[in-house]
Amino acid sequence: MKSYYIYTYGCQMNTADSERLSHQLEMVGYIPTEEVETADLIILNTCAVRETAETKVFGRIGELKRLKQKNKDLIIAITGCMAQKNQADMFKRAPHIDIVLGTHNIQHINEMIDEVQRTHQHQINVDMDNTVLPELKAKPNGTFFAWVPIMNGCNKFCTYCIVPHVRGREISRPVEAIVKEVTELGAKGFKEITLLGQNVNSYGLDFKNGTDFGTLVDALDGIPGIERIRYMTSHPQDMTKSMIDALGRSSNIVTHLHLPIQSGSNRILQKMNRHYTVEHYKELLEYCRKTIKDVVVTTDIIVGFPGETDDDFAETLQLLKDVRYDMAYTFIYSKRSGTPAATMDEQVPEEVKRVRLQQLMDVQNEISLDLNKEMENHVFDIIVEGPSAKDETMWFGRTSGNKMVLFPKDESLAVGMTVPVYIDKAQTWVCYGTIQKR
Ligand code: 5AD
Ligand code: SF4
Repeated sequence: MKSYYIYTYGCQMNTADSERLSHQLEMVGYIPTEEVETADLIILNTCAVRETAETKVFGRIGELKRLKQKNKDLIIAITGCMAQKNQADMFKRAPHIDIVLGTHNIQHINEMIDEVQRTHQHQINVDMDNTVLPELKAKPNGTFFAWVPIMNGCNKFCTYCIVPHVRGREISRPVEAIVKEVTELGAKGFKEITLLGQNVNSYGLDFKNGTDFGTLVDALDGIPGIERIRYMTSHPQDMTKSMIDALGRSSNIVTHLHLPIQSGSNRILQKMNRHYTVEHYKELLEYCRKTIKDVVVTTDIIVGFPGETDDDFAETLQLLKDVRYDMAYTFIYSKRSGTPAATMDEQVPEEVKRVRLQQLMDVQNEISLDLNKEMENHVFDIIVEGPSAKDETMWFGRTSGNKMVLFPKDESLAVGMTVPVYIDKAQTWVCYGTIQKR
């Protein structure tokens, strides 16, 4: 029996791809292992979105050289966005790698392994010319929760972002294929799924037949067993009122909306090639708050984009105070070579970026705590996910709005159960609660 070890960096799309890689490997007899030291095949499924992500991967690849020296038959494969970005240069930087597999080619993993075994030569496939997404089966890691990619790629070309360069143009999966996968998951006992796309609001537009994200949301409503459908990521430019109406009327779409704004300054949004204004964004959000009951809104923000002045940054701080997000994922702008922003004038000094990030987090943390406190003394349904990593006497789960709730372990609980919890105490990142007996 040969064993494989897979490590996933970056976003949920990569996690979904790893589950699809796992399925293919297990179909030809590989078994999974957590022991990198003894694995016959090591896959690093990589991320390139920020420089820190790439640095981490190169560090890890360097460490693997030792294992290759010990075991000449070990096969090392680099997949994902860094493989796509650096292509054959990966072999120059690290000749002990055997396989470089791009973002459009994970369906070829087994052929590539066979070729390495046959020829003992480097193998690479970074073609991006397919126009239809291959339908690949996954091996979900969990028992009640699964990722469901609905599209690959992005057509937006935000000037800071590497994703369109490494994931290619948008290709959507047909509605029927997604409905079929979700129906099968429901029949197997899965309760919660997350629809994945770089920009779910442009889902289906490539079919040019009127299909859009709202069509998909409606088609997924009422699938037996599926209690919660999460979706990410939304885009303020492509999200329409009719899509928001579909989200509002769905019986299984969650109340969590992740709607990245990136900056509170219209001038910076323009430089980012984000085609909307702060005013339009706020209007959209107002409609969401009216239409999607109890909606919980989170966002992404980048600080220190080239040319961001103190005034631009002050507008971002003000936006946080106006919108009052439940949570904001905040990033320091990271230069990505090959993107327009990397060569823009007026790059912001690292120290300024760090100070701005801290200010942003201080403002946001206070708001997150305030909003979590409003949950105190109320009851929310959560789906039990399992023991907390920090404290084994506590278990955790999430609300529909994606709030993490911790509660004392209880013998009657099992992973995947839906239970009502009374929130006793809120903190900035988590809430503490007590399971209500029905
Ligand atoms: N620098 C910093 N943050 C970035 N993001 C994407 N590209 C960059 C970059 N070059 C952030 C955006 C996006 C999130 C997933 O990562 O906020 O929404
Ligand atoms: Fe990147 Fe913008 Fe596409 Fe999101 S919408 S993946 S930030 S280019």
